[in-house]
Amino acid sequence: MTTTTSIELLIESVRAWAEVARRVVVLTGAGISTESGIPDFRGPQGVWTKDPAAEKLSDIHYYVADPEIRKKAWQARLAHPAWSARPNAGHAALVELERRGKLHALITQNIDGLHQKAGNSPGRVIEVHGTVHDVVCLACGWKGPMQATLDRVRAGEADPPCDCCGGVLKSDTVSFGQALVPEVIERAMQAAAEAELFLSVGTSLRVYPVAGTVSAAKQSGARVVIVNAEPTPFDAIADAVFYGAIGETLPRIVGMADTIT
Ligand code: APR
Repeated sequence: MTTTTSIELLIESVRAWAEVARRVVVLTGAGISTESGIPDFRGPQGVWTKDPAAEKLSDIHYYVADPEIRKKAWQARLAHPAWSARPNAGHAALVELERRGKLHALITQNIDGLHQKAGNSPGRVIEVHGTVHDVVCLACGWKGPMQATLDRVRAGEADPPCDCCGGVLKSDTVSFGQALVPEVIERAMQAAAEAELFLSVGTSLRVYPVAGTVSAAKQSGARVVIVNAEPTPFDAIADAVFYGAIGETLPRIVGMADTIT
């Protein structure tokens, strides 16, 4: 007779919560994309973990002030792993959740577009930190597709200015020091408050205001489940915490993987 471990019992409980919940809200962070080859920030192999100075240099003020930083940024964008990354089993689990009519909102801190690439409806994905697939002019607000501006960089423009006003161009992502879009944050907070089940997946929950969506959900009576390789500051208030790999755990929570034997 196989013994059912405590984690399998916990997965069974969460799967039952997901079954009865009419509105599941999911918050994702960089951890859901590492299995697609995109490094996270604060995990053991994270971008900030490996190069603490990089976090400081990612501040918008350095980017606007220093053309050399912009030139390096455009070279990095040419080689961004998002262009070749493919969604993984974790992303697929969230597509299945939407297919079943359970996904009320998918709040993501990620800029890689993998949720949409996996098949989640763009209208249901709230990109609170923007997207690397678009470019914005910091002066006039012009927006366009990233690949068209990357073509200019490939053609030799090391720091391409805005065609409309000559201003500084940047990926349409929110850097430290840059304002978040209030309507987007409000939408995320509202969705969290409407959740019956709130899944936090692959985020260290260290960056506000988005980490506050966990409290908003909890205070509105939602069950909170955290799936993350490392502890987070919200583990103590969660109804269930899984320290496993997302690609393995999330499909089982959603009920996609083989039934538990
Ligand atoms: N399975 C489970 N957990 C994982 C996996 C995985 N395969 N890979 C990474 N993780 C966990 C890491 O242990 C880490 O705790 O995912 C978490 C990712 O946390 P961060 O690197 O802090 O990323 P995130 O929470 O998305 O950062 C928020 O900070 O730098 C800013 O704007 C950036 O959107 C980002 C924000």
